[in-house]
Amino acid sequence: MCGIIGYIGFREAWPIVIKGLHRLEYRGYDSAGVALMNGTLNIYKKAGKVSDLEKSVESEDLKGTIGMGHTRWATHGEPSDRNSHPHTSGDGRLAIIHNGIIENYSSLKEALLSRGHIFKSDTDTEVLIHLIEDIQEQTGLDLRESVRIALNEVIGAYAIVIMSKDEPDELIAARKGSPMVLGVGEKEYFIASDASPIIEYTKNVIYLNDNEIAYIKRNELLIKSIDNVIQIPYVQELELKLEMLEKGGFDHFMLKEIYEQPRSIKDCMRGRIYPEKGLVQLGGIKEFAEKLKNIDRIVIVACGTSWHAGLVGEYLIEEYARIPVEVEYASEFRYRNPIISEKDIVIAVSQSGETADTMAAIELAKEKGATIFGICNVVGASIPRLSHAGVYTHAGPEIGVASTKAFTAQVTVLTLMALYMAQQRGTITQSKLIHLLTELDNIPTMVERCLLSNDSIKEISAKFKDARNFLFLGRGSGFPVALEGALKLKEISYIHAEGYPAAEMKHGPIALIDEEMPVVFIATKNSSYEKVISNIQEVKARKGKVIAIVTEGDTVVKNMADFVIEIPDADEIFLPLLATIPLQLLSYHIAVMRGCNVDQPRNLAKSVTVE
Ligand code: F6R
Repeated sequence: MCGIIGYIGFREAWPIVIKGLHRLEYRGYDSAGVALMNGTLNIYKKAGKVSDLEKSVESEDLKGTIGMGHTRWATHGEPSDRNSHPHTSGDGRLAIIHNGIIENYSSLKEALLSRGHIFKSDTDTEVLIHLIEDIQEQTGLDLRESVRIALNEVIGAYAIVIMSKDEPDELIAARKGSPMVLGVGEKEYFIASDASPIIEYTKNVIYLNDNEIAYIKRNELLIKSIDNVIQIPYVQELELKLEMLEKGGFDHFMLKEIYEQPRSIKDCMRGRIYPEKGLVQLGGIKEFAEKLKNIDRIVIVACGTSWHAGLVGEYLIEEYARIPVEVEYASEFRYRNPIISEKDIVIAVSQSGETADTMAAIELAKEKGATIFGICNVVGASIPRLSHAGVYTHAGPEIGVASTKAFTAQVTVLTLMALYMAQQRGTITQSKLIHLLTELDNIPTMVERCLLSNDSIKEISAKFKDARNFLFLGRGSGFPVALEGALKLKEISYIHAEGYPAAEMKHGPIALIDEEMPVVFIATKNSSYEKVISNIQEVKARKGKVIAIVTEGDTVVKNMADFVIEIPDADEIFLPLLATIPLQLLSYHIAVMRGCNVDQPRNLAKSVTVE
């Protein structure tokens, strides 16, 4: 939710900032803006994409070796030129870019209005830069101290960068609750929401912690806490590679990421499973191995696609580790008074590791004494840092806004966790574990086989691209797959779609079925196969169009359905990893055929850092 970038050094800032904004555009793409220091403070901003901003400045002289840029996902104020960042103080001396949300902005704004401040935008961000200006005016303090005092007055989340005409050789950056990483070069520094804009210049980074402020000059970095205590920065080396951030010959990042799944699932399992020994090792949670033997309950908290992965986790953990599991929307959990104790383990699932609701749910569960396990894709993000222990998914950067490889990696980790817990608790036999791990080891190859159906899925997509509604139905662990299939389709193609447990159809959604209604069934050969066949018949009897995901070689469903997509035969536990792949491809092709921007669907952002 909003991407920010800053540069100070010896190179021209504009190209670095613009390239960085393109990399960060997955975080928001309502408007974009840049500030450059070139004798004076120049600001360029525009509603629309980063490319619209570039077009709007074609005739400008974009010089300067200090700059900052922002790509926005609107929270306060519609997407427009005037609400775009950077925002400036009343006298235009100071400029700010901000990712996050200032929750007490209206009371601050009221006080500032009463002191004569005039605002040019509807944003919470502009209030913050006026507050800093106001503190300077009232106290005569320098900018560094004024920023620190202002941040102590602010409630909410922020990652900010500030430039000042009076301090033309300095950037000030600060974070609380929104991500920020500093790239450390030779006589140059970079600031960004994630490492993707930095990687081609330096591998040395510092993840700024909450409540820290960085004062950055070309040759000098000083980090202090918001309480004015000097902090020792921890410089670490990035593992990210540049090619991970490029499309690599695919038309869209989403397609590339769908095709990366054989590798990402393999990376996720690497060093964690030993099929021949029947052993799962999860170093990230091993210090809690004993606790796992005696826990009463697990609560999984997440949002969106990650919540769907959580539902798969519930199925797997209950089945194999015999621990009761509840799966909660983080946004609901945080506003209830949930019954959580120190006996519980709360698993937070998040691709970005920055989702505001999931972070708040973790904090609440921690207050109540629970042990937190994080499952996260972004190394060093806030959620792993808030958790007591955890397991990274190692899917690599996911740039397409719709989650694909991150979902299957989350499901892989939850599968590993379920088997690890079962191993610790003795709820699985060694021979079963050897069998499952041997098959799991083979899942990347099976995913490759799922991808071979791409052409036939494209043909099916062409038949349904103009549908107005879709139903996705599944049972058991096929139900979360149905939910995920529906979410994928609606978010990138804007077709209304619902996922339902197949048996629930007759309690309501069946009323929607007519010859216009495509119904996607997860109808693989597993324990609910016969039941799903009955549900298919119910749809066919009402002339619905059936697209069925079936096990290779199935003839029964083939004879009933209008279209079938085959996936390899595997143990039921692996159904979500395989059945999800054709649904991703179906929504991808439908969206492309409808002319939608699959990588950047309207109104969405990759990481939702506001509640
Ligand atoms: C959908 C999607 C979202 C995210 C959700 C949670 O394709 O990506 O529903 O799953 O916003 O995000 P994370 O996993 O980053 O916490």
